[in-house]
Amino acid sequence: MSDIEKLQELIDGSNNIVFFGGAGVSTESGIPDFRSVDGLYHQKFKYPPETMLSHSFYVTHKEEFYEFYRDKLLLKVVGTPEVPKAEPNAAHKFLAELEEAGKLKAVVTQNIDGLHQSAGSKVVYELHGSVLRNFCLSCHKQHSAEEIFNSQGVPKCACGGDIKPDVVLYEEGLDMDVMQGAIRAISNADMLIIGGTSLVVYPAAGLVDYYRGKKLVLINRDPTDRDSVADYVFHGKIGEIFSQLHV
Ligand code: APR
Ligand code: ZN
Repeated sequence: MSDIEKLQELIDGSNNIVFFGGAGVSTESGIPDFRSVDGLYHQKFKYPPETMLSHSFYVTHKEEFYEFYRDKLLLKVVGTPEVPKAEPNAAHKFLAELEEAGKLKAVVTQNIDGLHQSAGSKVVYELHGSVLRNFCLSCHKQHSAEEIFNSQGVPKCACGGDIKPDVVLYEEGLDMDVMQGAIRAISNADMLIIGGTSLVVYPAAGLVDYYRGKKLVLINRDPTDRDSVADYVFHGKIGEIFSQLHV
């Protein structure tokens, strides 16, 4: 039985699937991941990217933070005439179809690009928030990603307050309601598919330990340190793999 046939058989036999994903789910949409050789963390900047994406850097270097944030995290999500907006790929679309068919109960993602929802997924636990949500720190008014992208320097609300993206920066805590929802979904799943993530960032990566079933499937281009505990491991491009499956 080929890998694809095996994966199809596992999916056919499950009606409570949960997907746990990371940046590797969006690379086939043109959004680089972080730790691959062509990822964001291997590009050269004045400061290390992990530093620039930290709460303390946001507080002490707001101008530089927004320069990096617009160019590296927002550009591909908002799009410009020169840089096309990232669209959901076969991986996002297949997961939305599985949910529509009542087979998948939730997507748990570390991504902040909103592509699962654009593909039609309804239950999406965004562990690290979303660039599509931005709030004024003074009056809590919501602001769009386009507004942030098209503003200069530190984006300001009409009330004079700073606008901050609803993105979990390093040193910041995750939203407890989102964590609880993700843990509940993973704990109840009969099949957990982990895809496109290096599983090195906590507490997000630790959530997969709440899975109690025997159908832990890992689909990742590179090996991860969880390969040994997965029931099935597929190394390859997740969009390509999912495009060969049917609901
Ligand atoms: N198909 C399958 N796997 C892929 C693909 C693809 N098309 N493209 C990349 N990958 C794999 C890479 O092999 C890598 O192991 O996806 C993984 C991406 O790992 P990271 O770049 O570390 O991204 P992620 O795991 O999401 O990082 C977690 O780190 O910087 C923080 O907050 C950020 O949410 C992010 C967190
Ligand atoms: Zn305001």
